[in-house]
Order: sequence, then structure tokens, then C-alpha cells
Amino acid sequence: MLLALPVLGGCSGVQSALDPAGFEANAVARLFWVMLGAAALLWVAVLGLARYASRQRQQPWRHHSAGRLILWCGAIGPTLLLCALLTYSLLLMPALRASGGPLQIDVQGEQFWWRVRYQPPGGAPVESANEIRLPVGQRVELRLSSPDVIHSFWVPALAGKMDVIPGRTNRLVLEPTRTGRFRGACAEFCGASHALMAFTVEVMEPEAFAAWLAHEASPAEVSPAQASPAQASPASAPAAEGQALFLQNGCGACHTVRGTAAAGRVGPDLTHLASRPTLGAGTLENTQANRMRFIAHTREIKPSALMPGFAMLPEEDIAAIAAWLGMLR
Ligand code: CUA
Repeated sequence: MLLALPVLGGCSGVQSALDPAGFEANAVARLFWVMLGAAALLWVAVLGLARYASRQRQQPWRHHSAGRLILWCGAIGPTLLLCALLTYSLLLMPALRASGGPLQIDVQGEQFWWRVRYQPPGGAPVESANEIRLPVGQRVELRLSSPDVIHSFWVPALAGKMDVIPGRTNRLVLEPTRTGRFRGACAEFCGASHALMAFTVEVMEPEAFAAWLAHEASPAEVSPAQASPAQASPASAPAAEGQALFLQNGCGACHTVRGTAAAGRVGPDLTHLASRPTLGAGTLENTQANRMRFIAHTREIKPSALMPGFAMLPEEDIAAIAAWLGMLR
């Protein structure tokens, strides 16, 4: 029991399939408990039989009774139990693969981060990265694809895994049942930084989600200018410098910051980077020191990442770029 304690500690929290917060995860958790219950029942029955047998006097069984025992306990019993469990799990499946609601989200697995594009009905697509926000109580269809290698998209608290395979688009319907922040991860080995491509899923009230999506669609705002939200026009001298350095050093060739000249498509969209909790797809907390580290030593933090490190830049320049990125709300 003591040895099991550290393991049982993993049963709750933001990344646990046993602490479900979604329609599909509920079904998966229920299936787990039913299977566990049936296995425990069988285990107790087998132990009971073994104990009973060990207390019997050592006398040979008659051939007929031994045959009956093997037929019922070795063939018919297990077959009935497994058939019952199989029927139960098959009956769960049709509801899990139902169609989604009006909102669709394209999620693309990259090396090693997640490109996220919201496709609101009748609206223009909204691009983000490494963070997915969902309205609570609504079905949302995710369309999963990858340009190069296989990943697997998994948010244990919301649903089961779905492979992300180059050359095809897999669908996954998520229906969160409560608000909160959950953690997702890549669940298929995809390269050196496979373990460093996590993401957060923030489940919000529908009104808050609609307001957030409208803001996410807008160009970047530099946050100190909140009194007069000048769109992406640097509010203070250091911010102006950070933006200029970002553009001068070619960061815009790979990254988009809507509202500036940066419109690269290779790397993650950074338009609202400051509102995301992590950097490098769940690798580091989003702080000034970590933004500087990530810019300077990218491949030390994320081996095999496509972005080169920029340690050759003067530290003041890295600090200015990091500070500006930290203001993009
Ligand atoms: Cu992507 Cu593992």
C-alpha cells in the first residue's frame, strides 16, 4: 500500500485521465473503473479458489469433475466475462465519435510545437500556438494534421489520444464539462524534443471564450499602452527598440506578429505571446528571464528545434526583444 502511494498521487491533477473534465474522458474513466472492478472481482475469485484448493485433502479428482471445472472456470467463465466487458466498451463508442459543433479548430503538429487555427463559423481564421481555448459545454471539432512526422494529440482530462499523421486529417471531438486549465502532451515519439511539446487547454465560459477569441483575432497590443491601445505601435522606448530589433534580426521571417511587418509562417504565431502561460510549447514558464534564455539558447532548451539560437546578439538586444514579446497581449 505504501509503495502504491506515489503512483496514486498521479490520479488527480491537470493531466489525469482519472480526473475527467470532458464527455469522452468521462466515458474513458468509467470504462477504466468497470474494467478494474471486473479484474479485481476475478482476482479475488481466483485467490479464493486457490485457497480452497490448497485446503482440500490431497486426493485425485475424478476425471469427469476435473473436466467440468476446466470447462466452466477455464473457458465458459472467462469468455462470458470478456464478452460482457467487450460489449460494454463497444456500446460506449458510437457516442464518442459524434460530429462536432459549429466551431472547428485546425491543430497541426510541428517539430516540436502545436500550430492552432480557430475556424469560427462565418468568421476569419484566428491563429495561435501551443495553447487551445475551448468553451465549456460545447462540442468542438479538432482537425489534426502534420506536415512531416507522426505525433499524437492527447489531453487526458478531456479525451482519449488521437494520432496526428502526415498526409491525412484526423478528427477529434472535444466536449469539456467544466472550466479550468488542463495540460496536453504529444503521446507519440516524434524526435529529440518529443517530451518538450506540451500545451495548455483553457476551458472557459462561452461568453468569456467569445470575448477572448475576438481579442485573439485582433493585432498585437503592447500592454503598457492599455489606456490608449495603440495597435502594435510600441508604447515605450524599450518596447520600440525591442520591436525594431525583432524585425532587424530577421525574426519576422519565421514568426508572425500581426500589426507589424513580421509575417513569417514557419514558427509559432507570437501576436499575443504575453497572454500564453508557457514558452517553447510547455517547456518554460513565460517570464522575461526565460524568454531571453529561449531566444539565446534555443537548441539547448529544445534539441533539434528548427529555430537557431541567437546567443551572438548583444545581451541588451536580447533583453529588449524579450521585453517587447512580454508585452504582446
Ligand atoms: Cu510530437 Cu512527440
